[in-house]
Amino acid sequence: MNIAVLGPGAIGSLWASRLHSAGHTVSLWSRQTPPTLSIQLDQRQPTHFINNSIEALAQADLILVTLKAPNVEMSLAKLKSQIHNDTMIVLMHNGMGTAEKVNLLLPNNPLILATTTHGALRETTNQVRHTGLGKTELGGYNKAGKRCEFLAEVFQHALPQVVWNPTILDALWNKLAINCAINPLTAIHKITNGELAQERYAEPLHSIINEVALVMQAEGIKTDSEVLSQSVAQVIQATAKNLSSMQQDIVHQRQSEIDFITGYLIEKAQHHNIATPVNRSLYDAVKNIEQGWN
Ligand code: PAF
Repeated sequence: MNIAVLGPGAIGSLWASRLHSAGHTVSLWSRQTPPTLSIQLDQRQPTHFINNSIEALAQADLILVTLKAPNVEMSLAKLKSQIHNDTMIVLMHNGMGTAEKVNLLLPNNPLILATTTHGALRETTNQVRHTGLGKTELGGYNKAGKRCEFLAEVFQHALPQVVWNPTILDALWNKLAINCAINPLTAIHKITNGELAQERYAEPLHSIINEVALVMQAEGIKTDSEVLSQSVAQVIQATAKNLSSMQQDIVHQRQSEIDFITGYLIEKAQHHNIATPVNRSLYDAVKNIEQGWN
């Protein structure tokens, strides 16, 4: 397949390298301007990818979008005229809310959503380390996207484990719950994920999760605060030494994904008339930090 990876950060570079090794013709679309970019994954030979080629984008059977949520809509809007109607679009990022926007922007394209637990770290501009094996779930968002089940096999061949999930929104909501619990608290208190296991965070975590559970139930997802608490605790333990993506963004004064994580939750809560005061105060705190930058 001809595949373009839009936003080759750590996860995008991991997938670009693995899809290339699986035999696909992979190009990149990145903020960097050189016409070719080389990426070295772990100890493998570096791969030289074509970068920012309008021709490669126009010929893509599949565009894998691994940009951060706040950049997805604007980047695709700029490239819209170069994207063929049949090109499958896969969105893979933290947070929710981009699918609605992309579906309006490119209504004819098959739209597929993905979530992954693989760990990847960009060590230098050209070097990426696969830090943890994980699982990837894919599922169709619109009618055309729901017909793309074969993509699970394409992705599985490149980097297992991959499953096709016909209820991908449930998987994304479960991931959103984990991000609502871990990301704002770690960013505000400048702590590792593991430090959230300390007693003093038990009450805030409990309140965040209770609010998220109510919104998820109103959205028709079968869950409860007990189940969510267990998955949050598991991720805190499994990623104890990590700095969450939001904590890293805040430290480096980069716009965070708060609007697509806690912001999305609050928007849905308002729709269902559910009060989310604890999540709201975390949202305001992260927004305040961001607005304090010059
Ligand atoms: O955003 C992140 O950092 C990750 O999604 C997670 C799961 C919270 C682990 O750090």
